[in-house]
Amino acid sequence: MNVAFTRQLPAKADAVVLFCARDAVLETVLTALPDKARRQLAKAAGALEFSGKKGQCVELPAPAEMDAKWLLLLGLGDVEKLSEKEAEFAGGRAAAACMGKKAQEVVVLATAPEGVEMDAAAFVARIASGMKLRNYRFDRYRTKRTENGENGNGTEKGGKARIETLTVVTDAADAAETAFAPLSALADSVHFARDLVNEPGNVLTPKEFARRAAEMAAEAGLSVEVLKPKKLREERFNALLAVGQGSKNKPRVVVLKYDGAGDDSAPIAFIGKGVCFDSGGISIKPSSGMEDMKGDMGGAAAVVGVMRALAARGAKVNAVGIIGLVENMPDGGAQRPGDIVISRSGQSIAVLNTDAEGRLVLADCLDYVKEKFSPARMIDLATLTGAIIISLGKEHAGLFSNNDELAEEITKAGLETGERVWRLPLDPAYDKLIDYEVADMKNIGGREAGSITAAQFLQRFVGDTPWAHLDVAGTAMASPKTDINDSWGSGWGVRLLNRLVELAERG
Ligand code: BES
Ligand code: MN
Ligand code: ZN
Repeated sequence: MNVAFTRQLPAKADAVVLFCARDAVLETVLTALPDKARRQLAKAAGALEFSGKKGQCVELPAPAEMDAKWLLLLGLGDVEKLSEKEAEFAGGRAAAACMGKKAQEVVVLATAPEGVEMDAAAFVARIASGMKLRNYRFDRYRTKRTENGENGNGTEKGGKARIETLTVVTDAADAAETAFAPLSALADSVHFARDLVNEPGNVLTPKEFARRAAEMAAEAGLSVEVLKPKKLREERFNALLAVGQGSKNKPRVVVLKYDGAGDDSAPIAFIGKGVCFDSGGISIKPSSGMEDMKGDMGGAAAVVGVMRALAARGAKVNAVGIIGLVENMPDGGAQRPGDIVISRSGQSIAVLNTDAEGRLVLADCLDYVKEKFSPARMIDLATLTGAIIISLGKEHAGLFSNNDELAEEITKAGLETGERVWRLPLDPAYDKLIDYEVADMKNIGGREAGSITAAQFLQRFVGDTPWAHLDVAGTAMASPKTDINDSWGSGWGVRLLNRLVELAERG
C-alpha cells in the first residue's frame, strides 16, 4: 500500500473516509467535503442515528458530483479514550470497510478531534498505521484470485481487495509523514512476520526460514549468522538437534544482531521458538487440527519481525535475535520417549514426551545467547503449550518472568499496543513436577499447571539474567480477528516488543 500525506483533496477516489468522535459536531468533521456530499452524509448520519460511537460506520454511495464511489464515516468513540492504540484500531476498521467495498484508491480526510491527547500529525499517522496493518491478505497460493479479490471460482461472494493507494488529507502533512515513517516500517515488519506464520510447512522449512531471515537481514542492515548442523553440533545444541533428528529438513539457528545504541552496552535479547512443523514426533499428535502446527514458529517470526522493525526505524538500542529452527517429525531417526539428552548448558533432560519439544529448542538457544552476548535482558516468545489456551484463551499471551520490572514494562507495552499479556507465577514449588530420578529434569510435568511447568523448565537455563517468557500459543495464530488483523498468522509480538524497546529508549 502506497501512503501519501497531502493538504489538497485529490480529484478522485474509490472511497473517501472521515472519522468522527462520539458526540462531536458532525458539521466540523464534514467541512472538507464538497457541498452536496456534506449534506447527504449529514442526512444519512442523522437517519442512522450516528453518534460517533466506536465501531459505528456510515456507508454512502458518493453523490454524482464527486469522482468517488463511496463515502465512509467512522465512529472514533470517546475522545478521552482515544489513545494512539485506539486511533490505530479505528484506522483498521476503516481499512476493513474500504476492503469490503473493494476500494483500491482511498482518501482519508483526517482531522484530530477536539480535545484528543495527541497532535494532529500523530493522530493521522496512527490512523494510517492501523489501515496499513489491516490491509493484509496472504493470497500467494490463490492462483485464481482476481484483481478485485474474488477467488475466481465464482464461489466467493464479495471478495475483499487490498487497498492500493492511501492519500491522507491533513494540514499537518509534513509532520504526519515524519510520524508515519517508523509506523510504516513497523507495519511492514508485522506483515513480514505474518507471511512467515502463514506459509505452509512444505515451503517454510528451517532452511528456507533461515534463508528468508538472512535475506531480510541483508536488506535491513542487520548482521546475521546462520548456524547449520555441523556448527550446531560443535556448539553443543544437543537438545535442539535431538528435536530435529527425525526430519529430513535439518535444523538451523539464526542469530541477528542490531547495534543501534552507538556504544557497547549489553543488548536486549529476543529468543524465538521456530518449530516449522510440530507433528509431535514419536509422541505424535492427533490428526485433527495438526495442520495448525505449521504456525509453531510464531515466536521466531515475531523475533525476526521485531529485529527488522528496529533496524528499519533506526532504534537507539543494541539487540540480538536468535531463533531455533527445527521440524519435529517421527521417523526411524527420531528421538524416543525416554531418551536422555545433555543440553548445551550441561544439564541433562529426559525426553518423556517428544511433543514437548519447544522447551528443548529454547533451552539451548537461551544458554547460547546468555553465554555469547551477556544480554541485559532476555525475552523469549514461544507457541509453547496448549495449556495456555486453556488458562487464558486467545486474548492474552502468558507472561512469566524472574524480574518484576521487566514484567511490568512488558505488561504496559502490551496494553499500549493491544497485544495484551497476563502474568502467571513462577515458583520453586513447581520444580518438583519436572524433577526426575535418572536425569536433572524431565520435559513434561504432568496434567497440572502445564504452562507453568514449561516456564519453570525454561528458567533452569537463564541463570540470573532478567528474563521473560511469553507463551504465544493462543495469540500467534488462529487467534480472534481484531480491527488491525484478520490474518490467521497474526504477527503477534512484533508491536509489543517494539514498544518495549521504545519505552527503554525514552528512558
Ligand atoms: N506446539 C505445541 C503447543 C501448541 C498447542 C501451540 C496448540 C499452539 C496450539 C507444543 O509443542 C506442544 O505440543 N505442547 C504440548 C506439551 C505437552 C506434551 C506437555 C501440549 O501443549 O500439549
Ligand atoms: Mn509439541
Ligand atoms: Zn510445539
